[in-house]
Amino acid sequence: MRPLEYKDGVLKLIDQTKLPAEYSVVDCKTYSEVAAAISGMIVRGAPAIGVTAAYGIAIGAMGIYTSSREIFFKELEEICNDMRSTRPTAVNLFWAIDRVYGKALSNRSKPVAEIKEIILQEALRMDSEDVDTNKKIGIHGNELIKDHWTILTHCNAGALATCGYGTALGIIRVAHEKGKKIKVFADETRPYLQGARLTAWELMQDKIPVTLICDNMAGHFMKAGKIDCVIVGADRIALNGDTANKIGTYSISVLARENNIPFYVAAPISTIDFSIKSGDEIPIEERRAEEVTHIKGIRIAPEDVTVMNPAFDVTPHKYITAIITEKGVIYPPFEENILKLK
Ligand code: MRU
Repeated sequence: MRPLEYKDGVLKLIDQTKLPAEYSVVDCKTYSEVAAAISGMIVRGAPAIGVTAAYGIAIGAMGIYTSSREIFFKELEEICNDMRSTRPTAVNLFWAIDRVYGKALSNRSKPVAEIKEIILQEALRMDSEDVDTNKKIGIHGNELIKDHWTILTHCNAGALATCGYGTALGIIRVAHEKGKKIKVFADETRPYLQGARLTAWELMQDKIPVTLICDNMAGHFMKAGKIDCVIVGADRIALNGDTANKIGTYSISVLARENNIPFYVAAPISTIDFSIKSGDEIPIEERRAEEVTHIKGIRIAPEDVTVMNPAFDVTPHKYITAIITEKGVIYPPFEENILKLK
């Protein structure tokens, strides 16, 4: 399953706002449409939005009609800035924009038409690299999974959140493909319901046994001995290992520690923000109140109630057993071991 596919100047995105009720594909033909798809959550998940932004820049670059390098780079910078303002937390977005823009800059002496092609080729490379990276994460993570385990996951860190295969769900896929009789418990993930709508659907497509639970049931099942480990994805990891992921992840990590259950973060190295020392520096996206007060357009809370809706929280590194990357499994002391990945 691939949530994004580029062909002949058009980026096709599975509309994740409509799943699982409706499977539809949105065509983005301009960079503004790509930016709107990221901020509107048509595409979501840290690695997926990074590569989507890279394609958005490639599409935007194709639409700059000039042979002047000066004009081209001025407009390209504006496009990159628009992409940067789509969502604040997942560092993969900024990593991808910097990589594509950097590639263009290092080829700035070439003709504009050539630079446009170089940008597109870089986006295509990032797309295929992401799938390879996920498979490597899956292989490393599988070493930690025992036969017959039940794994709890939160949000959707699957094929839908990447360019295919997934990070946390990539590990689950490898374990399943290797014949391990594993089961998954998926938190519904209020308020946006990525667990109920996307993870449950994605695992069912692959016939991987999944049980959907409400977020507030996780502690109950851990205490009852029903969960063997937790695996989640990440949106930004600080040098000390503090990890921003979907709101609710922090609570699960504390529950896992209380119940002596290993808590794993699965993420590509592009999710590590080497410029920040701790999770205190991670910007947390605040989303619309309607996501909390309404479900499928139906109001479930009083009119005018005060609402807070942070989309992510930060799990302190002390609750994380290990971080599973494409280069292997990283254990504490995280700062020392993360720096070795650079
Ligand atoms: O708001 P979302 O749906 O983009 O949040 C996604 C997550 O929090 C994922 O767990 C994270 O991006 C990792 S995806 C491989």
